[in-house]
Amino acid sequence: MEALRHIAVIGAGSMGAGIAQVAATAGHRVHLVDALDGVAAAAREGIANRLTGQAAKGRISETEAAETADRVHVDAGVDDLPEVAIVIEAVQEDLEVKRTLFSRLAAGQPSTTVFASNTSSLDIDAIADAVHDPERVIGLHFFNPAPVMKLVEVVAGRRSAAAYLDFGADLVRSWGKTAVRCASTPGFIVNRVARPFYGEAQRLLAAGVADAATLDAALRGAGFKLGPLELTDLIGQDVNLAVGTSVWEQTDRDPRYAPTALQQQLVADGRLGRKSGHGIYRYAADGHPQDHEPDADRLAVLVGGPTTTDPVARTLAMLVNEAVDLVHRGEASAADVDLAMVLGTGYPRGPIDWGREIGFDVVAGQLAELDAAFPGGRYRPSPALS
Ligand SMILES: NC(=O)c1ccc[n+]([C@@H]2O[C@H](COP(=O)([O-])OP(=O)(O)OC[C@H]3O[C@@H](n4cnc5c(N)ncnc54)[C@H](O)[C@@H]3O)[C@@H](O)[C@H]2O)c1
Repeated sequence: MEALRHIAVIGAGSMGAGIAQVAATAGHRVHLVDALDGVAAAAREGIANRLTGQAAKGRISETEAAETADRVHVDAGVDDLPEVAIVIEAVQEDLEVKRTLFSRLAAGQPSTTVFASNTSSLDIDAIADAVHDPERVIGLHFFNPAPVMKLVEVVAGRRSAAAYLDFGADLVRSWGKTAVRCASTPGFIVNRVARPFYGEAQRLLAAGVADAATLDAALRGAGFKLGPLELTDLIGQDVNLAVGTSVWEQTDRDPRYAPTALQQQLVADGRLGRKSGHGIYRYAADGHPQDHEPDADRLAVLVGGPTTTDPVARTLAMLVNEAVDLVHRGEASAADVDLAMVLGTGYPRGPIDWGREIGFDVVAGQLAELDAAFPGGRYRPSPALS
């Protein structure tokens, strides 16, 4: 029971520090380790400062802030860890680094310790191969910033034991998170289903159907908080391209996920978005986008017009297609896909729920139109729609 209260978090970068804060807030004794000298201590300091900030705003008491920070311990290395119930790794996104880490942990931790990876894009099975008992390896994919974002994707490798997956899901639920289950499929739920949200707008922009401000306004008009182009500027064009390319590579270059020449060019030109002052849009020094007015007349013509040039219909049809296809492949439930997209990306509603309202037969027809106009497989309907 005592071991259950002990959690290890390896890697004290932005994700590891956030996860450590969440676990400590929930009452666990958190052992934080980073390979670089001083990084875990700095992360602990950062956690303490954030908690003090919350106390200053009256969200928690000063005692609570101090006690929570005290529950975060910096350990010099993985060999110094006590026995823990679960290790959550948030080291850099590198398969070999994660494999080496888990095989080293397997030598020091009891056989019942669960090894969870916060990987965004690596295959859980490939990580699990490194340990003698791969059934103890699961994915717990938190979103950034971990203390704020409610969603955790609980990712099952082919050999992950059901009991350990349940343990992981129950644990993050006890931390106030919402757990969704998915298979170790490229991009898991959120990073897979969201791809066309960005890709369709980039294609419409590249084809000259409308300017960026008009395309973004169309999607905002459908209820999205940010349009796809302004959102990629915020995420970073390089980061967004890397996620998309990773899904594309891992699906044997499925045309559904092919990166656009437009985004590749933006990255090549250093137009990374807000952080570089220029992406799709230009930004002032304070990060504010320079004025860009949508073309209201063009917007009125496009939305509700032919699917091939309607940014909303085209994007929604593709989002619905991705979502139902994931369910069709047996990689997640419809309810979890919808929950994940609402909590992980802030979509106004789940794509499957949305598809039901539009009519799956209507979506199938829209995809057929798109497939005829742009052949090559990108717009092929999921077998779930036929
Ligand atoms: N940043 C995000 O938005 C985000 C979101 C979800 C998941 N992730 C995933 O979380 C993981 C960490 O991402 P991040 O953005 O926090 O990275 P980061 O680069 O900010 O931090 C990684 C930390 O791990 C440390 N590290 C590297 N190898 C180590 C080892 N062998 N032992 C101990 N520490 C080691 C590094 O020194 C660094 O401090 C990655 O797998 C990433 O894909 C990131």
